[in-house]
Amino acid sequence: VSPFLVDAFHRQHNYLRISLTERCNLRCFYCMPSEGVELSPNGHILTDEEVVRLATLFVRNGVTKIRLTGGEPTVRKGLIQIVGRLNALRQYGLQSIGITTNGIALHRKLPELVENGLTHLNLSLDTLDPFKFEIMTRRPGHEAVLRALETALASGLRSVKLNAVIIKGLNDHEVLDFVEMTRHKAISVRFIEFMPFTGNKWDKGKMVPSSELLSRIEEKYPGVTKTPDELNDTARNYVIPGHRGGFGFISSMSDHFCGTCNRLRLTADGQIKVCLFDPKEISLRDQMRQGATDEELQQTIGRAVQGKREKHAGMEDIDTVTNRPMILIGG
Ligand code: GTP
Ligand code: 5AD
Ligand code: SF4
Repeated sequence: VSPFLVDAFHRQHNYLRISLTERCNLRCFYCMPSEGVELSPNGHILTDEEVVRLATLFVRNGVTKIRLTGGEPTVRKGLIQIVGRLNALRQYGLQSIGITTNGIALHRKLPELVENGLTHLNLSLDTLDPFKFEIMTRRPGHEAVLRALETALASGLRSVKLNAVIIKGLNDHEVLDFVEMTRHKAISVRFIEFMPFTGNKWDKGKMVPSSELLSRIEEKYPGVTKTPDELNDTARNYVIPGHRGGFGFISSMSDHFCGTCNRLRLTADGQIKVCLFDPKEISLRDQMRQGATDEELQQTIGRAVQGKREKHAGMEDIDTVTNRPMILIGG
C-alpha cells in the first residue's frame, strides 16, 4: 500500500468499509435505540459519484478489499450500479467486493449484485427462532432472511458468512443449532461478542465470552479443530470434521485484534473513520465539495491514518466519550 495508508504502528490498511446509507429496514436493539437515530439530511450523504471517486482513490493507494455496509446497504438506491462501478476498479488492484446485510431485501437483488461483481456476502442473523427474531430486530422478516441465505449459498459467491451477535439469556443457547447448520451448508458462522455503542444499553452481563461458547461446542462436538488464523481476519475459526462449513468467534471485547487491523471506514456522510471505537472523524465530503484535488484528499486520508491509535481507541472512556451509534458506522 502507499505510505498514506500505513499508520504509526506499521499497519497497512488495504480494507475499506464503505457505509452507503444510514437507513435500515430493521431496528436491532444492539445497533440502535428503539426511537431510532437522527438521520443526516439527504444532501449530506455521499452521491454515487463521490463514493466511486473516493473508492478509486483508496484502491489506487493500495486497498484491495471493499465491503459495503449501512445502515442496511440494500436499501441504498443505485446499490447495483455502485457495485458495477467498483468492479471496474479491478484494473487498479481491487480484488474483492463484499457486502454485510441483514438479508431482508436481498433475495431479489442478489443475482444482479453477483453479475455486477459482488464476491463476498456476510449475512446478519442472530437467531433461528422467528419469535426471537422479532424481539431482537423489533421487526418481522425472519423468513425473508432464511430465504436470502439459501439464495446466497446458490449464487456462486466466493464466500458466505453468517454473523450472529450473541446476547446472554436471549440467543446464547442457540449456538449449537448454528453449529449444526455448518454440517450441510458451506457457510462460516461467526459468533460475535456484544460491543458497546452509544444508545445500545450494553452491559458486561449481556456479553458471553467466546471461550465459554467454545467450551459448550466442544462438549457436543469432540472433533472441533482450530484452523490457522488468516491474516487480518476478525474471527478465530474452527471446523468440525465432516462438516461442509465452519464457525468462528469475533471476540472484540475479550480478545481484541487491533494489532492486525487493516480496516478504514467511510461513513455514509463522507467522514473517514480510522477505528470503529474512535469518535474522531475527518470529512472527505466537505473537502471534495470545496473542490479538493485527489492529491489533497490523499493528504487528508494520510493525516487521518496517522492519527489512528494502537488499539480500541475510545474504548477506555466508553462511559464519557460519545461515538456514533453502530447504525451510523456499519460495523
Ligand atoms: P470479513 O471481510 O468477512 O472479514 O468481514 P468482517 O468480519 O471484517 O466484517 P462484518 O461486517 O461481517 O462484521 C462482523 C463483526 O465484526 C461485526 O460485529 C463488526 O462490528 C465487527 N468488526 C468488523 N470490523 C471490525 C473492526 O475493525 N474492529 C472491531 N472491533 N470489530 C470489527
Ligand atoms: N456488537 C457486535 N456486533 C454488532 N453488530 C451490530 N451491532 C453490534 C454490536 N453492538 C454487527 C451486526 C452486523 C455487523 C455489521 O455488525 O450484527 O452483522
Ligand atoms: Fe481496528 Fe479499532 Fe477495530 Fe481495533 S477496534 S480492530 S483498531 S477498527
